Amino acid sequence: MKLLLVGSGGREHALAWALAGSPLVSKLYCAPGNAGIAEVAERVATGAMELDRLVDFATERRIDFVVIGPEMPLVAGLWDRLEAAGIKALGPSAAGAMLEGSKGFVKDLCAANQIPTAAYRRFTDAAAAKAFAATLGLPVVIKADGLAAGKGVIIAETAAEGDRAIDSILRKSGDDIVIEEFLAGEEASFFVLTDGEHVLPLAGAQDHKRAYDGDKGPNTGGMGAYSPAPVLTPSVTKKALDRIVRPTIAAMAVRGTPYMGVLYAGLIIEDGEPKLIEYNCRFGDPECQVLMMRLKSDLATALIAARDGQLANLDLRWRNEAALTVVMAARGYPGEYAQGSEIRGLEAASKSEGVRIFHAATERRNGRLVATGGRVLNVTAVGRDVAEAQQRAYKAVDLIDWPEGFCRRDIGWRAVSRQRL
Ligand code: AMP
Ligand code: GLY
Repeated sequence: MKLLLVGSGGREHALAWALAGSPLVSKLYCAPGNAGIAEVAERVATGAMELDRLVDFATERRIDFVVIGPEMPLVAGLWDRLEAAGIKALGPSAAGAMLEGSKGFVKDLCAANQIPTAAYRRFTDAAAAKAFAATLGLPVVIKADGLAAGKGVIIAETAAEGDRAIDSILRKSGDDIVIEEFLAGEEASFFVLTDGEHVLPLAGAQDHKRAYDGDKGPNTGGMGAYSPAPVLTPSVTKKALDRIVRPTIAAMAVRGTPYMGVLYAGLIIEDGEPKLIEYNCRFGDPECQVLMMRLKSDLATALIAARDGQLANLDLRWRNEAALTVVMAARGYPGEYAQGSEIRGLEAASKSEGVRIFHAATERRNGRLVATGGRVLNVTAVGRDVAEAQQRAYKAVDLIDWPEGFCRRDIGWRAVSRQRL
């Protein structure tokens, strides 16, 4: 089969690596890809949001199946456009992608189906929003309704900060605003694959959203991850499936907008009770990188089965080993950073035991590997536990010669400190 993968980040490099190894895949294209992806797929010079050109390419090349990595093309309806042109693709549809695209939609769906999540209300009026925020205590969580690349959430520690956030979001977007209760507890990322009816749990992972060690500094897209996540015990996983994910999939089907594809539930777990913080309509980045290192079964078979409504009898096998990934980012990320600096030493680093390096934003220029974005490399390792995977990943990080880059030195700290208990 000929497959097209859409996207260019570390998540897509991990997906490309898994798909390229599939016995079903005879040819893999990636639009637009990066320098690492070029080693396992043929790059196509088309961006992930050039929907017309992607549909044209898939039609002309008679692509059998399309995998869409990032949320933006899903929310914009790339799945719907491909399927209308007769090309099979892993969803969700634009209507399904509302689970990520609209926070207000998700909160209303949770309320209507008794799905555990933070108490909330939606507002368009600043004065009413501020009055409600005042009833919730501090901190209070303020969210813009639409996609905001992680920047749409403000956790206000004071009432004045909350009021400023409300004014600023309403002024900028004119959209709805969601005000919600702050949930204390430990966060985890839980992934399932669904065909709209059957739900196949994938694995759990834990991300590190803050830029600096000790979970300090600004929020980012994610600075590192590991899988499995000890906080997702069998009991917590069962509750997350029975109380959160399955009711959501059932409710989406009842509305006439069945959800097909990967569903990523961002959970907060307190005293063994999971609550939903948010949904994403795709794999997490960098969580996908650690999931792909642990997946033993064929990824292409599973994704195609989801599209074809055939998940009922599919079983996935995972390595018992842990996987951990360290994100190397350009100095300054998530703020301003320079592009075009050279990275050396990757070849030696990738020969380290248990290590695989996924590229997130790289290009080759005149034979040199250069950084072209904020999050640039994902140094990923497997080990018998998180501590060993962590030690192997950092050993490889230390072989990489890239003075213009930085990484956190404490990825995996929660799991490692649990192991020491
Ligand atoms: P989101 O953009 O929805 O992923 O939110 C970004 C981050 O804000 C999450 O990963 C959480 O760390 C935090 N967050 C969002 N909602 C809440 C909440 N109700 N209580 C506590 N933390 C939250
Ligand atoms: N790592 C968080 C995300 O993919 O949204």
